[in-house]
Amino acid sequence: MPPRALKPTHSLKDPDTRIYVGDCRTIIPRIPECEAKSVDLIFADPPFNWQVKYDEWHDGLPRDEYLKFTREWLDACVDALTDRGAIWVNIPDDTAAEIVVHLKNERKLTMVNWCIWHYRFGQNRMGSFIQSKVHALYFVKDKDNRIWNSTDILEPSDRATTYFDPRTHNKKEGKNGLRVPMDVWYGKYWGRIQGNNVERRANHKNQLPEVYLERVIRACSDEGMIVMDPFTGSGTTGVVARELGRRFIGTEYSAANAKSAFARIKDGPVRVSKDAPTVHTTAIFPPRARRNDSATPQETSR
Ligand SMILES: C[S@@+](CC[C@H](N)C(=O)[O-])C[C@H]1O[C@@H](n2cnc3c(N)ncnc32)[C@H](O)[C@@H]1O
Repeated sequence: MPPRALKPTHSLKDPDTRIYVGDCRTIIPRIPECEAKSVDLIFADPPFNWQVKYDEWHDGLPRDEYLKFTREWLDACVDALTDRGAIWVNIPDDTAAEIVVHLKNERKLTMVNWCIWHYRFGQNRMGSFIQSKVHALYFVKDKDNRIWNSTDILEPSDRATTYFDPRTHNKKEGKNGLRVPMDVWYGKYWGRIQGNNVERRANHKNQLPEVYLERVIRACSDEGMIVMDPFTGSGTTGVVARELGRRFIGTEYSAANAKSAFARIKDGPVRVSKDAPTVHTTAIFPPRARRNDSATPQETSR
């Protein structure tokens, strides 16, 4: 007999927003939209097994157990996706390879991008290079038939903002000096959420920046579609999804975290706004001085 469908612990309407408390591996198969394979986008930021104090979850499993846990939640997520759907996984160096191999070889998904979220202020150390990135792995079931909204995530190109190349304003795609972002993500508002950052929520570890979820959700879902986060945490995915008019399903092991994420979702995001995509240059060089405006634009060394 199939297990009974669950009731959410927290819910809101318009758009439908739900959080379920419990272990995502057992909860996801019992959510009706997951059983029906109708989830359009999944964003997963799992515990990294780095001994972080996550209220209730024990973040220090033996390695074999952690890998088994990883495969199990990945499978539950992939089973819930629509044929056009996408799954994104936020994961550091030590488990990225295992996830890529599982999704490619066992689940036969296609990797569209292996993005990097680069942040400053990694933890200081002397024995090796300071860690300043997390992998953002973007997989789909069908690469030729997937939800992809390139024009909703454009940003100014370096050619436009640094080199004033007029050709960037006349392109068929990405007019006005705009382009699809590169696969290394950084810049204003992209730092780790720490200290007195206005986005910071009390009692949450490893909260992601809102702009990260804005990019993923705008690119890989449409209004009214279902976005799911198996590791809700402080609710970053939920608060951004709701602001952008997506339906949201979250699962969270800690009842206290779920309650706090729900309060955040009701408050709304700090930076992201439905009507105004966050757009800013990520150029790392200052704008070149212009000798004169009529000069032919130069291809410059970087
Ligand atoms: C890295 S945090 C997620 C942070 C989130 N992306 C944010 O921006 O706030 C991981 C969260 O997953 C929860 N968690 C850990 N194991 C879980 C499981 N098996 N099922 C559901 N949630 C789990 C933890 O309690 C924690 O809140």
